[in-house]
Amino acid sequence: MSTTTAEATAQYERATRRALELAAQGPVTGGNPQVGCVLLNAAGEIVAEGWHHGAGAPHAEVDALSKLPVTADGRPDAAGLTAVVTLEPCNHTGRTGPCSVALLNAGVARVVFALPDPGAASGGGAERLRAGGVEVVEGVLAEEAQTFLHRWLTAVARNRPWVTVKWASTLDGRAAASDGTSQWITGTASRQRVHEERAASDAILVGTGTVLADDPSLTARGDGGELMPHQPIPVVVGEREIPADAVLRRHPAGLIETRNLVGHSRDLAAILSDLDTRGIRRVYVEGGSTLVSALVAAGFADEFSIYLAPALLGGDKLALGDLGITTIGEALRLRLTAVEQLGDDLHVTAVPAAPPHPAPPAPAKEN
Ligand SMILES: NC(=O)c1ccc[n+]([C@@H]2O[C@H](COP(=O)([O-])OP(=O)(O)OC[C@H]3O[C@@H](n4cnc5c(N)ncnc54)[C@H](OP(=O)(O)O)[C@@H]3O)[C@@H](O)[C@H]2O)c1
Repeated sequence: MSTTTAEATAQYERATRRALELAAQGPVTGGNPQVGCVLLNAAGEIVAEGWHHGAGAPHAEVDALSKLPVTADGRPDAAGLTAVVTLEPCNHTGRTGPCSVALLNAGVARVVFALPDPGAASGGGAERLRAGGVEVVEGVLAEEAQTFLHRWLTAVARNRPWVTVKWASTLDGRAAASDGTSQWITGTASRQRVHEERAASDAILVGTGTVLADDPSLTARGDGGELMPHQPIPVVVGEREIPADAVLRRHPAGLIETRNLVGHSRDLAAILSDLDTRGIRRVYVEGGSTLVSALVAAGFADEFSIYLAPALLGGDKLALGDLGITTIGEALRLRLTAVEQLGDDLHVTAVPAAPPHPAPPAPAKEN
């Protein structure tokens, strides 16, 4: 049965929606994007599904192919099938082989994907597939896929991790009492959400001031205090050494002290670039106010996760210090992305209303 272009488009969109659902089952941490794949037969029915289970594990396409019957010579038999993927199949050998080659070897007839792979090393899969005689359709539900992968795509494009800045404050914007104590401003529901946000991060950034004041553990823990399966690595930013018996030194994911990164102790751009080279795509900043203010002022805060407790503290321990803003017209305007009540607290998430760094001016047109 032949399908019209409209039928084919509807079929690819349905399959891409399913592939996005599958992609969401993979981990948000670990450096690699979440990717999903479905394999369709000529009637447009799904015959196999797969998703990327994390760095080092098979990619979504290979995961889906592994569920097919095999040929006499042991290859997955995808003859005549259409592979629908949320991201262009990769074209390089990392910890696993190129997906473009796996799809070619399996005999797929067509590959449909939503977004091109932005990686310099991993891109080019579409070209390789076309050269191998496979029909390639790109851009299906590209906007949905872009929204889904926004943080990862931004991190890859900027060569630095996506930075989520978190703080807990009273309604009057204080992050600590005058004696420096801040545990606990918010209630248990907020604190549990913070643990979930930690578990969805590759690294936690914290200033030396907070480590010296609070001796935090910065582990991601469940309701019962148990360690969650994924632990982000803590990164202590600053020149001072933290004590030998600091709780952070026993963190299950290890510890990075920026004082040990040559010339990097307070250089935020260099620190983020260093983390990028370690495959860290998501950073969660847990204060204190000096570090957070420096990150915001430098335009590195991509997202805010703010917990507001119905309490007042007064005093000078503000959640944010000087940002170099002197007049209201320069206020850093945010766009709210969610507002939720957690117990007695409010959880507000927001992103800068305008990109932190304006786009470079377009080159002047020649007359
Ligand atoms: N409510 C909350 O959400 C929350 C969260 C965390 C902390 N707190 C509270 O906040 C207080 C600590 O805040 P804080 O502001 O004193 O400490 P902080 O921001 O944790 O650390 C400040 C230190 O960070 C280092 N640093 C790193 N990058 C820097 C940069 N670009 N510019 C300047 N300094 C940089 C400097 O350390 P070196 O001198 O070592 O170089 C600086 O002294 C504590 O009372 C804590 O309880 C509250």
